[in-house]
Amino acid sequence: MTDSTRMFSSAAVESQGGADPSKPCIMLIFGASGDLTKRLLVPALYNLACDGLLSDNFAVLGSAITQVDTDEFRASMSKDIKEFHTRNQFDDAVWGKLVNRFHYQAASFDSVEDFKVLRQKVEVLDKEMGADGNILIYFATAPSFFGLICENLSKAGFKEGKGWRRIVCEKPFGTDTESARVLNAAVTKHWDESQIFRVDHYLGKETVQNLLAFRFSNGMFEPLWNKNFIDNIQFNVCEEVDVGSRGGYYDKSGVLRDMMQNHMFQMLAYLCMEPPASFEPDAVRNEKSKLLSSVRVYKPEDVACNFVRGQYGSAFNDEGAMIKPGYREAQDVDPKSTTETFAAGKLHIDNWRWEGVPIYLRSGKALWKRGTEIVVEFKKAPEAIFKGTAVKKLAPNRLVFHIQPYQGIELLFQAKVPGPTMSLQKVDMHFSYGDAFKASRYTGYEVMIYACTNNDATLFSRGDLVMEAWKIAQPILDYWKKTPAPDFPNYARGTWGPKAANELIARDGRRWFEVVTPDVLERLPLFRGADALLLKAIIMSLNSKAVEAGEVIIYKGDMANEMYLICSGEVEVLDGAGDVIKTLKDGDYFGEIGLLISSPRTATIRAKSLTDLYVLEKTDFSRILREYPQFADSMLKVAKDRYDLTILLDQLIG
Ligand code: BG6
Repeated sequence: MTDSTRMFSSAAVESQGGADPSKPCIMLIFGASGDLTKRLLVPALYNLACDGLLSDNFAVLGSAITQVDTDEFRASMSKDIKEFHTRNQFDDAVWGKLVNRFHYQAASFDSVEDFKVLRQKVEVLDKEMGADGNILIYFATAPSFFGLICENLSKAGFKEGKGWRRIVCEKPFGTDTESARVLNAAVTKHWDESQIFRVDHYLGKETVQNLLAFRFSNGMFEPLWNKNFIDNIQFNVCEEVDVGSRGGYYDKSGVLRDMMQNHMFQMLAYLCMEPPASFEPDAVRNEKSKLLSSVRVYKPEDVACNFVRGQYGSAFNDEGAMIKPGYREAQDVDPKSTTETFAAGKLHIDNWRWEGVPIYLRSGKALWKRGTEIVVEFKKAPEAIFKGTAVKKLAPNRLVFHIQPYQGIELLFQAKVPGPTMSLQKVDMHFSYGDAFKASRYTGYEVMIYACTNNDATLFSRGDLVMEAWKIAQPILDYWKKTPAPDFPNYARGTWGPKAANELIARDGRRWFEVVTPDVLERLPLFRGADALLLKAIIMSLNSKAVEAGEVIIYKGDMANEMYLICSGEVEVLDGAGDVIKTLKDGDYFGEIGLLISSPRTATIRAKSLTDLYVLEKTDFSRILREYPQFADSMLKVAKDRYDLTILLDQLIG
């Protein structure tokens, strides 16, 4: 399957043709020997250069404690860019020109003398490049150095001279309300708020920026964007990756600080804020700040019933051997750590627009699949009119913003299945970035650097916004600190997190809307390598079903007529004697042979806990294959090759 035939391509938009290049400046990077520089900043500069968006009057002065010279710096960047660039093809000529504008000067953050040398270097580069005296100072260091660097920049005369000065601060901006206040004070002591650009890389994502474009450029949705029409909103930021080698940082952070307080609250603000008067940076940021200040700040007892947390444990194979270590076994993590790697919660926005609309958030590491989605669930239509038809229950309309890895927007609704009777099927309208725009993947930092040189702070957090976000997170942090979770680790790697997350939303009579993407279906041998059109049709035909603990889903000997995908929960596979031979969990599937041929089931399957399933009925699968006969032959082949089943076309589509 090629990218362009996927339901949603994971490509971002190519820069808009004809845009002016960035403004002249010297970019001074502190922490130039670190990860961020090689993984994101330099690839972003390279993308800007490739797209003709980087000023010719531009140079980089990298600095860090590492003692290397300019030639060595250029050599290591030239090596790293091969690994981290995001273009389909690498352009040596563009890189060659760019890397010649990279310079390096080692400096110790606590040495004014070193900073004076940096100042002289910047001046020389400025003259050479004609950068109009402008300096963009990028703090790609740990935040604990920000204050010291600011101090020494001032002492070394960086504030003097012509041109502008702008400071870009990387996250995390504080680790709680008090540290964020101290950090803000340390930076604003030397620089005016208008000169400070606090990065949240989610705001650099096209799909996040598009939240505003979508809401405010389309007249159709805004009238519905309120408590009268919207039932609930869900934010999912789920990662398949574990903590990796970042244990040292992560163990002091946890998902609430790492993902929710910043990235998720920023998206929340974009999605729920009032329309700004204009796209002027402060017009937008004022509305964001207003929105965040309307989010209910919880008391400790509210935290207990509105937020849950989790920590992933090891993964085991069927024989019980550990195949992947849990969080507490990760490098640089305390073996008794109580840091959360998963959190789910419910927030309330106490304003006219959103009163009573629950906002659910869920994020974690080592989960079943990677996916950032925002699901806006509208109020359901009444079923009454369908009385006497086959339609028993209507699903709510949902607007799904696919932020990543799929990038697009999908509107889910119901339509009549062609035929003489009234029956409904979930269908969608979707917009995919990959289809609509020429694709070239961006890191998200291009637009940040570009906007900063243009003095456009829209995509950056303002001091008050950061504080508002901490205000919401602080009581949760406090409560968790006081009452460390006794049951950690409480979710297995590769699942949808702890049971408590499902119970949290189930208490409100709702459930998490799991977005099944083509790559999830492709994990089944039955659908591996299948055409995007087929996968899409299957996704639309999945019906959700919840089963209680102890309920039997499949009886041995029953005729197989459907397949199951486990969204969350656990099921047990029982042999003829009723003994458990296997346990299946989130992301696992069973019964898919039932789609190929109606034969007696070979095992009984029983829910071990409350389990959310997606069911695909054979009747729907056959209908899809009748609608797309071009895929039926390949399914016959899959049946033979992957399941050793010889079946006839009629059995498949009849
Ligand atoms: C970072 C977090 O801010 O965002 C990481 O520190 C996380 O833990 C990352 O993995 C996710 O970013 P993205 O762009 O991959 O969603």
